[in-house]
Amino acid sequence: MQTRVLKAKDSIDEGASLIRSGELVVFPTETVYGLGANAFDENAVKKIFIAKGRPQDNPLIVHISSLEQVRDIAVDVPEVFYELANRFMPGPITLILKKSDKIPYAVTAGGETVGVRMPSNEWARKLIEKSFPLAAPSANRSKHISPTTAKHVLDDLNGEVALIMDDGACKVGIESTVLDLTTDVPTILRPGAITAEMLVEILGEVNENGKVIKIAKAPGMKYTHYAPKVKTVCAESIDHAVREYDRAKNDGLNPVVVARDIYRDKVEDRAQISLGVTVEDYCRNIYAALHTAEDGFDYIIVEELGKTGLEGSVMNRVEKAAGGNRV
Ligand code: TXA
Ligand code: MG
Repeated sequence: MQTRVLKAKDSIDEGASLIRSGELVVFPTETVYGLGANAFDENAVKKIFIAKGRPQDNPLIVHISSLEQVRDIAVDVPEVFYELANRFMPGPITLILKKSDKIPYAVTAGGETVGVRMPSNEWARKLIEKSFPLAAPSANRSKHISPTTAKHVLDDLNGEVALIMDDGACKVGIESTVLDLTTDVPTILRPGAITAEMLVEILGEVNENGKVIKIAKAPGMKYTHYAPKVKTVCAESIDHAVREYDRAKNDGLNPVVVARDIYRDKVEDRAQISLGVTVEDYCRNIYAALHTAEDGFDYIIVEELGKTGLEGSVMNRVEKAAGGNRV
């Protein structure tokens, strides 16, 4: 199959027609690019797992363009869903609800719940409006880093999908917050740009337990996600990062430090990739930094940014990329 990359704004009709005929389309969102199929079409959804090489037991998120669509996707929708939707949708959050009979088990990996998300990217919503709600994971090969540009997608999925709708770099840059509304106390299964602090304002309480509980709850969490092709570690501080760089260099490796802009001078003339100045920069740039790093270096050292809030969400991805390796 030949993969074409077209501007998103010029390819809505073509994308919608591919989706209606049961094909896959890569579409832009504010978080990362998604690999979409008609969420009501079991055969179309199965193609996603083949294209990505994704394990069958990892469920997909259903992307919507309006709240009315939830009636076809979920049942027993609690009031709090609409309170959260009013505040955070469209935006980088996925809410887990009880699935309806119309959603095939291929989407939910055999489970009785379904993730629902309304992306804020206008082309994503137009595509859905003109076709169907879209079951979509991130548009990377299973286990590789999520794509935040059309080029990242092409590098991973060339030949696997007919159309990539290009809308430049993703504005948020890490995947949506996943919040389970089927538990007694709503539970964060994956941290993201909508943080626990923001959710608590509406929910009163939210379960953001330690990693162990997140791993146990989200079916996808047991896999190493977001891993670059080369070894990656998280350094406790910029000094640790610099020391590790020098050690690796001595060992004959070709390392690179990924760090905040303020530490440029500390890293000096060692190879470095800047994450930018603000925490929103770090979030937007982290995956692009990892993509660049794995293409030019054989060892990636990422400086610890912080443990809570948006810094914490970014470090969640870094820790997964590093497979828990720390220096
Ligand atoms: O920002 C995002 O969420 C992006 C864009 C494309 O929307 N999508 C994304 O999809 O990151 P994916 O498939 O790469 O990650 C979805 C995560 C997985 O960890 C999966 O296990 C979890 O959400 N998930 C999906 N449905 C679930 C469900 N019913 N119950 C628990 N976890 C679920
Ligand atoms: Mg993914």
